[in-house]
Amino acid sequence: MMRVLVVAGARPNFMKVAPVVAELGRRGIDPPLVHTGQHYDERMSDAFFRDLGIPAPAYHLGVGSGSHAVQTAGVMTAFEPVLRDVRPDWVVVVGDVNSTLACALVAAKLQPELGCRVAHVEAGLRSGDWRMPEEVNRVLTDRLSDLLLTPSRDAHPNLRAEGIPGERVVFAGNVMIDTLFAQLPAARALGTPESLGLPRGGYAVVTLHRPSMVDDPLALAQAVGALADAAREMPVVFPMHPRTRRNVERFGLAGALDGVRVLEPLGYREMLGLTDGGAVVLTDSGGLQEETTALGVPCVTLREQTERPVTVSEGTNRLAPWPLTRGGVLSAFRAAAAEGRRPPGERSPEGWDGRAAERVVAAIRERGSARMQESAAGE
Ligand code: UD1
Repeated sequence: MMRVLVVAGARPNFMKVAPVVAELGRRGIDPPLVHTGQHYDERMSDAFFRDLGIPAPAYHLGVGSGSHAVQTAGVMTAFEPVLRDVRPDWVVVVGDVNSTLACALVAAKLQPELGCRVAHVEAGLRSGDWRMPEEVNRVLTDRLSDLLLTPSRDAHPNLRAEGIPGERVVFAGNVMIDTLFAQLPAARALGTPESLGLPRGGYAVVTLHRPSMVDDPLALAQAVGALADAAREMPVVFPMHPRTRRNVERFGLAGALDGVRVLEPLGYREMLGLTDGGAVVLTDSGGLQEETTALGVPCVTLREQTERPVTVSEGTNRLAPWPLTRGGVLSAFRAAAAEGRRPPGERSPEGWDGRAAERVVAAIRERGSARMQESAAGE
């Protein structure tokens, strides 16, 4: 029997591993799950496991926060003995966080000894911005991977341009959208907008957490100013990442958020229900750019570029004018609000159909076990 080890570390990983773990289970492969502990708060981690019905991790590495070097090295050091213990045929990593790269690197180095291959789910996305830690993680993880599963066709020319052999690359579609469609009825049934007293279809949802935005006092001040302006036009609700909360206080911007409803980070279903009921989303998150496209909700992305261009060309996303200014963000917000919502799934990118995990698991099973193939060849 083929053995597959699945890795998750941070909040945006959890909705990507959920459908892959479930599909592996349906195919009779019971994958041990590794949680690196990059995210560890109840609201950043446990709430997602519960909402998404992800089985408890067989291994919890408990790595926690730290500088990039400390965090990445901590995951690597803790992951190596797990890999030796499980000796999987495949290590499945998802997305672009530090845990993704750390585990891919350990597995690639142990491949000659253990025969474990690396499958990267969400391969091939590129922002072209090497200052983003996620971009470094994506490029290196893809270079280390034996099987690159792409969420959208725009990933393929990126991988070709980097010289990745075509036979390693498989179009899978977007596993996060599998989770979105599976959870949408339950998310709607929660009535999150109503419980917050928000008019369905008549409020804005904000998330900001990227270091390039929230660690920069000037950028954060421009964004916060625009949110305060937007809040004079419709209710604005802002579930706040711990990094952002810390910096809003540190930079003395809490007062400037007057009129904006700041909340603790939300669970997956609450957040999905809130997004689904909104008129506009303003964000710097990669995941929300995709979720708003699937839901047909207009989205303004507060970044210079996006590694998910399909959400602009085929979806409901637009980039705020760059460099970010209070006025530029406000006018993008107004344009998005004026455009209005589309019915969910009306114009979905190819493969954002709720069946991406089936294609991921089919590609892994097709390639089978390198170890078994080797020992068969040697007989
Ligand atoms: C990480 C990912 C980013 C992803 C984001 C989603 C990397 C390089 N970045 O960024 O791609 O979009 O997760 O949230 O992997 N903290 C808590 N509780 C937690 C986790 C973090 O309070 O459970 C605080 C800590 O102060 C920590 C800070 O948030 O130092 C940053 O956490 P970290 O995991 O380093 O990066 P994120 O900014 O969350």
